[in-house]
Amino acid sequence: MKPSAYVVANWKMNKTGAEAQSFVEKSSKLLLNMEKAKVIFCPPFTALFDMGISLEGKPWILGAQNMHWEASGACTGEISSDMLKACRVEFVILGHSERRHNFGEPNNWINQKVLRAISTGLHPIFCVGETLEERQSGKMEDVLHKQISEGLAGVKNSNGMLIAYEPVWAIGTGEHATAEQIEKAHGIVKNYVCESLGDIGKDIPVLYGGSVNPENAGELIKAKSVDGFLVGGASLESESFSEIIKEVETFIKE
Ligand code: PGA
Repeated sequence: MKPSAYVVANWKMNKTGAEAQSFVEKSSKLLLNMEKAKVIFCPPFTALFDMGISLEGKPWILGAQNMHWEASGACTGEISSDMLKACRVEFVILGHSERRHNFGEPNNWINQKVLRAISTGLHPIFCVGETLEERQSGKMEDVLHKQISEGLAGVKNSNGMLIAYEPVWAIGTGEHATAEQIEKAHGIVKNYVCESLGDIGKDIPVLYGGSVNPENAGELIKAKSVDGFLVGGASLESESFSEIIKEVETFIKE
């Protein structure tokens, strides 16, 4: 049993505002009386406003998938923290592997985003994880260390931050990490987070992400170090996402 647990839906580049709203309506019927897990929906930017309205009066929270570190200015195509907050966003995913690997975001950008999110009152969902090649060549610890020490440099107050360990080889591949692999990696992540942040690092929840689905969620949430999930593909259908939430709810204390 866990004191609490998070289930985060990362919709990536999927769903319009109208589709997001109908997802929320459908899920409210499937999840009656399921209010223990902390559920965070991260739709694309263009659906945030509609989603913020849909979530009014619901026990679920709104998150975004990225933001820029500047408050405003000449940053074509970017979104600021104030813009997110105006849509009722509370959490923001930062350093997702697709941003790191497909869009070339280095640790120092992610660090500036984390610092800006915290200073403006948003809760970061800070993502880390190694590629298959890094794991196989024995570099996993070094990679996680660098991502965490550089990504969290200068953080003095965690402001409700969540960390997501997402091995790149497990994202969208259907091949999730095993409970043992996750326990080992989460132990490493927790140590480095405490090394970087000191005492405030101790209580930061660590979520697992990478091919979580209704079939494996019940098994993986049992792992002691897993404080919840960041879910991509299986969060796109209300049925499968609701099943994952139900699995997680079973492991949360009243
Ligand atoms: P997946 O994505 O669940 O489809 O593997 C997870 C993520 O990218 O956060």
